[in-house]
Amino acid sequence: MPQVAAPSIGVLDSGIGGLSVLREIHHLLPQHPTLYVADQFHLPYGPRPVAELRGYVQAIAEYLMGEGAVVIVLACNTASAAALYDLREKFPGYPFVGMEPALKPAVEHTRTGVVGVLSTRTTAEGVPYQRLLSRFAEGVRVITRPAPELVHLAEEQRQDTPEGRAIIAEIVQPMLAEGVDTFVLACTHFPFLVQAIQEVVGPDVRLIDPSPAVARQTARVLPPGTAPSTTPHRYLTTGSPALMRTMLRTLINVEAQPIGLRWQGGILVSDHVSEINKN
Ligand code: DGL
Repeated sequence: MPQVAAPSIGVLDSGIGGLSVLREIHHLLPQHPTLYVADQFHLPYGPRPVAELRGYVQAIAEYLMGEGAVVIVLACNTASAAALYDLREKFPGYPFVGMEPALKPAVEHTRTGVVGVLSTRTTAEGVPYQRLLSRFAEGVRVITRPAPELVHLAEEQRQDTPEGRAIIAEIVQPMLAEGVDTFVLACTHFPFLVQAIQEVVGPDVRLIDPSPAVARQTARVLPPGTAPSTTPHRYLTTGSPALMRTMLRTLINVEAQPIGLRWQGGILVSDHVSEINKN
């Protein structure tokens, strides 16, 4: 008799960035199985055209739905900026959780009246961010800095090298010189650089990471009756499963064997036979 996949929380990103959101979801909802897709084949998402990103994100969302996801978290500011509205239109009623720069708390926190936003280009130029600016940034100066260099730094875990520190300094120092006292981490890769960035900017500058709020929002929109289960968390990547395995250990202290995914004619396929079909 065919069995139904355990209802799980689907999470996606271009790479390891979404793990910063996933760890908060694990923390808040420890009994709920999660399914994480890293589209490392297409990393970085930041410089890609919106229409192209929409195609990838929709295909991943469809894959996740097919694997039992009852809610999908776009744990990527860039994917959210490009595809969230579109997905909500295409799948009315299905719960999607998206990310946007945490401008409101930053504006509330700043004492100098100058806020820095570190993001990708797509996020910075996207309609959702432009709307946030006109809603929340009144009376405050916001300096937005697309920082694709930091995506690679996080993905390659080079932030603690002298070269890594120099890259961070080159980005944040001009912003500090303009009076920034509060930085919004508007890319999910950046929480993995927090220690390094904090060392460069000093202890008095605040870094705002919206991941805990995104995990709370995920808990709120989980369909009622979604039961906790003992199904293990699953990790999939369109890049190297071996590398992903190391990153899971290093970044979120998880031991797991990620599964490889392939793009084929615009859709995602995996070689693995799911536990469900094996039974
Ligand atoms: N982690 C992603 C974000 O939050 C994107 C990084 C990238 O692939 O450019 O924007």
